[in-house]
Amino acid sequence: MTLDVTTLRESFELVVERSPQLTRRFYEILFERYPQVRPLFGSSTETQEQMLTRALVAVLDRIEDGAWLTETLEALGAKHVDYGVTDEMYPWVGDALLATLEEIAKDAWTPRVRAAWTDAYGAMAGLMMQGARKATLSPPSAPPASRQPAASPPSMP
Ligand code: HEM
Repeated sequence: MTLDVTTLRESFELVVERSPQLTRRFYEILFERYPQVRPLFGSSTETQEQMLTRALVAVLDRIEDGAWLTETLEALGAKHVDYGVTDEMYPWVGDALLATLEEIAKDAWTPRVRAAWTDAYGAMAGLMMQGARKATLSPPSAPPASRQPAASPPSMP
């Protein structure tokens, strides 16, 4: 992934410093613009509070580590299938995330910063959707074919 890491880190630090309520604002915007995703989230706001910021911090810390990113984000995408998340929802979350960052960053939201975040979110969402597809094609709960009990011969009358 060739991303503008310096721009991403600097703008994220600025946004978090300016608004510790970043995640809360993100969910307000998400649910206001896309109320159809509200039922996917449990009533506890704790997981929600942590969802994006925790993931973004982790990704920004390991952004040069392509293998880690692929493995982690594919697994996260697979988990999201169980939450009821579908591919069409990824642009909605991206829209809400960028709108939140823009609202907080204000003047610091330059075309360069917007481009860096658009690329980064697109790359993350792409890996998560890839993980979701793999999980849907081969559900981990399915036992390997060799362990299936042999079919018993039809019983004679
Ligand atoms: C790059 C995109 C995304 C990232 C990095 C991300 C990250 C996360 C993380 C770290 C969690 C915490 C729980 C866990 O470890 O499984 C989570 C939970 C969740 N995410 Fe995402 N997510 C993304 C996109 C989406 C999208 C597009 C949706 C669709 C609306 C979504 C809906 C959810 C839901 C419903 C939960 C469970 C929260 C709860 O039970 O209240 N996420 N996500």
